[in-house]
Amino acid sequence: MPKDHLLLLLFFVLHQSLSIATENNQCTSSCGEVTNISFPFRLKSDPKICGDSKYELSCLNNRTVLSLYLGEYYVRHIDQTNYTIGVADVGMRKGDCSSLPRLSLSCGNFSYQDPYSACDYDSSMFYGREPSKTVSIVKCTKAVDSRLYIDASSCLDGVELSNFSSTRRRIYAMVDANVSNVETACTIELMAMTPWWVDGTNLRSYAQIHEQMVYGFELSWLPIVGKMHCKGHYYWGISSKRQIQCGSKIGKNF
Ligand SMILES: *[C@@H]1O[C@H](CO)[C@@H](O)[C@H](O)[C@H]1NC(C)=O
Ligand SMILES: *[C@@H]1O[C@H](CO)[C@@H](O)[C@H](O)[C@H]1NC(C)=O
Ligand SMILES: *[C@@H]1O[C@H](CO)[C@@H](O)[C@H](O)[C@H]1NC(C)=O
Ligand SMILES: *[C@@H]1O[C@H](CO)[C@@H](O)[C@H](O)[C@H]1NC(C)=O
Ligand SMILES: *[C@@H]1O[C@H](CO)[C@@H](O)[C@H](O)[C@H]1NC(C)=O
Ligand SMILES: *[C@@H]1O[C@H](CO)[C@@H](O)[C@H](O)[C@H]1NC(C)=O
Repeated sequence: MPKDHLLLLLFFVLHQSLSIATENNQCTSSCGEVTNISFPFRLKSDPKICGDSKYELSCLNNRTVLSLYLGEYYVRHIDQTNYTIGVADVGMRKGDCSSLPRLSLSCGNFSYQDPYSACDYDSSMFYGREPSKTVSIVKCTKAVDSRLYIDASSCLDGVELSNFSSTRRRIYAMVDANVSNVETACTIELMAMTPWWVDGTNLRSYAQIHEQMVYGFELSWLPIVGKMHCKGHYYWGISSKRQIQCGSKIGKNF
């Protein structure tokens, strides 16, 4: 058989099985409280044809779980209209302010090619702000008197952070800390992400910050939307009017 016939046949078979999978609803659309699982998302147990493998979720004990880098996050909601998925570290426990994320997560963990974005330029353009902020848990060898340092000692004093000695120390939380501005007496022990609306200048207690950490943060899957929308183009971007714009076409001289 000629090569292009084979390709056509392959396409036909793929297309057929996609239709059959979606017709028979073999693609799971809900797990626990998340009722909007649809493209690009798929569950691990779904047929291969469902969703995009980069956006795989698991359904464990009736909870939707996202594995991101080395961490695990409960999925709270999926919002198809603004391309965001709301997640929270599985280590966070409501009402227990000594609970912390199992792993540190901040803008530095995300890179441009990753399926999710939280801090990049394109999503800032799209949402008008970054979709998430960071909270730094810092350990200081002396007390720091500054509005930027919110005392977390009463919650975290007994908690084992990395290489904690029993010498006098204070533990603070800082919202959107500028790393270069952190006092030299302090070191960052852990970073966590919170929703974009958390405003460090309005929060006076660590319990309030902890509540937001339990709520979690939002990740955007805008990168795949942009790439798909601009298939066949060298690059894509966001206009100031929140529209996806494609760059020059692949294979065309300009
Ligand atoms: C799973 O979670 C949903 C939503 O939270 C709930 O309505 C349902 O009863 C749960 N099912 C089981 C088997 O726990
Ligand atoms: C994020 O990066 C930090 C520093 O490299 C690392 O310690 C942490 O485990 C990473 N977080 C996740 C969720 O992989
Ligand atoms: C979830 O899906 C339902 C039905 O398709 C829709 O009405 C609702 O707005 C969606 N919710 C979110 C958060 O996308
Ligand atoms: C996306 O939409 C949801 C629901 O309307 C909202 O809660 C969330 O803050 C939005 N996310 C961003 C990054 O704008
Ligand atoms: C652990 O703490 C001790 C004493 O404060 C210090 O000398 C040592 O360098 C620390 N180790 C690491 C890996 O940070
Ligand atoms: C962080 O602080 C440095 C020094 O004060 C300043 O130059 C820089 O613009 C700050 N960055 C942010 C993001 O605020």
